Amino acid sequence: MDVTNRFVLDFARGFERRHGAAAMLDFGCGAGALVQAARAAGLDMVGADVFYGGSEDRVRAVQTGLLGSAIFEARDGCLPFPGGSFDLVTDNQVLEHVADLDATLGELHRVLRPGGTLLSLFPARDVLREGHIGIPLAHRFRQDSRARFLYTWALRSLGLGTWKEQAPTRRQWAVDKLRWIDTYTFYRSRREIFRAFEVYFRSEPREADYIRYRLRDVAWRAPLARLLDLPFASAAASAVFRKLAFLVVVSRKAPR
Ligand SMILES: C[S@@+](CC[C@H](N)C(=O)[O-])C[C@H]1O[C@@H](n2cnc3c(N)ncnc32)[C@H](O)[C@@H]1O
Repeated sequence: MDVTNRFVLDFARGFERRHGAAAMLDFGCGAGALVQAARAAGLDMVGADVFYGGSEDRVRAVQTGLLGSAIFEARDGCLPFPGGSFDLVTDNQVLEHVADLDATLGELHRVLRPGGTLLSLFPARDVLREGHIGIPLAHRFRQDSRARFLYTWALRSLGLGTWKEQAPTRRQWAVDKLRWIDTYTFYRSRREIFRAFEVYFRSEPREADYIRYRLRDVAWRAPLARLLDLPFASAAASAVFRKLAFLVVVSRKAPR
């Protein structure tokens, strides 16, 4: 399990310690690594995913044996759960893939109980590097821009980029990967994102918690976590982090 999912798992554990037994959903769970780990840790977590065309995750979800019992398919923007089913919903690197953020947040709000919590980790348009294809700023160009193609091809030729083995030539890699981000990503500014969240939730940025977690994760870095307690250090570190990685947002549905 990757480190962001470990952070989400520890958040879920902490949530249950504070609130008692809790029903949890990992939205956009992919193959279900977090769902499996959470259930192994005794948490009552299920997952849901659309299994979009670009991934092998559905096959891997079948292999876990959880598809249909703890991992469910979301169809037509609807989650297969009654309203108010969950105390905690998590989504890790998912919301930059949803075409209609407003409708998705509405659906997550529906399945949360009054007073429930939503933990979201995902990049805004402000991020400098397009993480899925590993090319800086590729997501900032216009989709029909020739300059974007030449730039991406050039950076790939210089050795940048992810999943390089998936195309026979660098040129083809640039064509395929740009098509992929055009099909499966929907970047929004941080302002647009918070405006959408505020329709349903009270939300706060929590990148500092994630930075602390990463620093404490490695023994020699752990003392650096205390620097975040200095005035302005937390806000400055969070601003840099959002440019380099993603937003961390904790949202609450109003109590009844
Ligand atoms: C980058 S993967 C992240 C998977 C997993 N959360 C993880 O951290 O390993 C994005 C996932 O979001 C899912 N996804 C995209 N749009 C979705 C939607 N509208 N509803 C549910 N899942 C969605 C994709 O199928 C994919 O599994």
